[in-house]
Amino acid sequence: MIIVKTISELKETLKQYNDKSIGFVPTMGALHDGHISLIRRARHENDIVVVSIFVNPTQFLAGEDLDKYPRKDEVDKKICELAKVDVLFMPNINDMYGDDEVKILAPSVKGYILEGFIRPGHFDGVLRVVCKLFNLVKPTNAYFGKKDAQQLVLIQQMVKDLFMDINIVPCELIRDSDGLALSSRNVYLSHEERQKALAISKSLKSAAKKIGMGELDVSVLQSLMSDVMCELDVEYIAFMDREFNKIEKIEIKNTIILVAARLGVTRLIDNIWI
Ligand code: PAJ
Repeated sequence: MIIVKTISELKETLKQYNDKSIGFVPTMGALHDGHISLIRRARHENDIVVVSIFVNPTQFLAGEDLDKYPRKDEVDKKICELAKVDVLFMPNINDMYGDDEVKILAPSVKGYILEGFIRPGHFDGVLRVVCKLFNLVKPTNAYFGKKDAQQLVLIQQMVKDLFMDINIVPCELIRDSDGLALSSRNVYLSHEERQKALAISKSLKSAAKKIGMGELDVSVLQSLMSDVMCELDVEYIAFMDREFNKIEKIEIKNTIILVAARLGVTRLIDNIWI
């Protein structure tokens, strides 16, 4: 595995893979089994695998956890090596950003609802960095988790709107054995908060079960989920189609149910694709 830090090194390294398919997995590090599942899939489907680790400052709002976001560079390098990554790109902030830059913005509706409503401007930062990374890596396939469903949909839209020739591969959400969706931010949870947080995945499961029994009315499902999460500080329960339009009735194979909740200082998001 080659570890590259600068953009010129990255360009030089990638030159040799001109005629090969490149699978790209962008991350912010503190890698867990969710990230690893993306890397494995990329490994399986491409000649060359590139992973980036960059805690992107432009997607954090003032007062968020940019400074305390978990950083585990040495362990991450080992994980990537074991997963047979070819190139690990770990740029620094000054290489990625200049002053007074050209910026791309998230769409004004889908980029500013749900996560984008609670974290206004977050998706501008996500799309800005992913666009830069795509231009650098020029991947054939890029791998994103369904865990961050709104991010995934917006990246698919960016690729379409900007005519980027990149195949976006949605990857399954990976959970811990107790049902909690894996996230780099789970390390912030106390034991008690973690136990309470299990109500999030339970609520999604119970909604899926009820849908399986024929219940398609969103308001009924929403109140069932609220009951399961009655002890949590729930920010939203949302029912969207796969293009992120709000729906009133469940559409089988075209619905995402999303939840965001706060456990102490930690925000958790989770979802299920119906
Ligand atoms: P990060 O949170 O590190 O996630 C990197 C990728 O791993 C994303 O595509 C995310 O959806 C996926 N992922 C995280 N947890 C997962 C889980 N439990 N199961 C499956 N996939 C999971 O998302 C970001 O970084 C950043 O916004 C980034 C796209 C790198 C831009 O900075």
